[in-house]
Amino acid sequence: MSIVKINVLQVPVEQREVLEKRFASRAGSVENSDGFEWFELLRPVEGTDQYLVYTRWRSEADFQAWMEGPMKAAHQRGGDGSPQQKPAASGSTLWSFEVVQQAAPKAADSE
Ligand code: HEM
Repeated sequence: MSIVKINVLQVPVEQREVLEKRFASRAGSVENSDGFEWFELLRPVEGTDQYLVYTRWRSEADFQAWMEGPMKAAHQRGGDGSPQQKPAASGSTLWSFEVVQQAAPKAADSE
């Protein structure tokens, strides 16, 4: 079963647009990482003011290989290649989960 790694970002209100702009011009290298399955940037709407960077991986080893490799490059550059900018987030926490159960929409013709 896959694993899920969520980076929980504390983002001051005045930095929200900056963060979303940075992600909009992100490196896009995670898509080529072995064992990478899914990425979503989740903007808080209700119940929290924290952004969630949701990633899903085939295994813990695949995630660690990304953290030790492409992740560093993806975080060292500013979205547009300019030198490192002041972080938009004021704090971050990493949550780890194992996928215990999952479901996808049934294909229309399987009824
Ligand atoms: C100190 C903690 C971290 C901060 C402040 C942070 C912030 C950011 C920012 C601003 C970007 C946009 C790209 C850019 O500006 O170049 C980014 C990209 C990304 N971050 Fe983080 N990040 C952190 C750690 C992590 C961790 C632990 C994960 C693991 C779930 C993660 C997952 C990602 C992913 C998947 C991308 C897109 C990379 C790509 O496009 O290849 N980040 N991060």
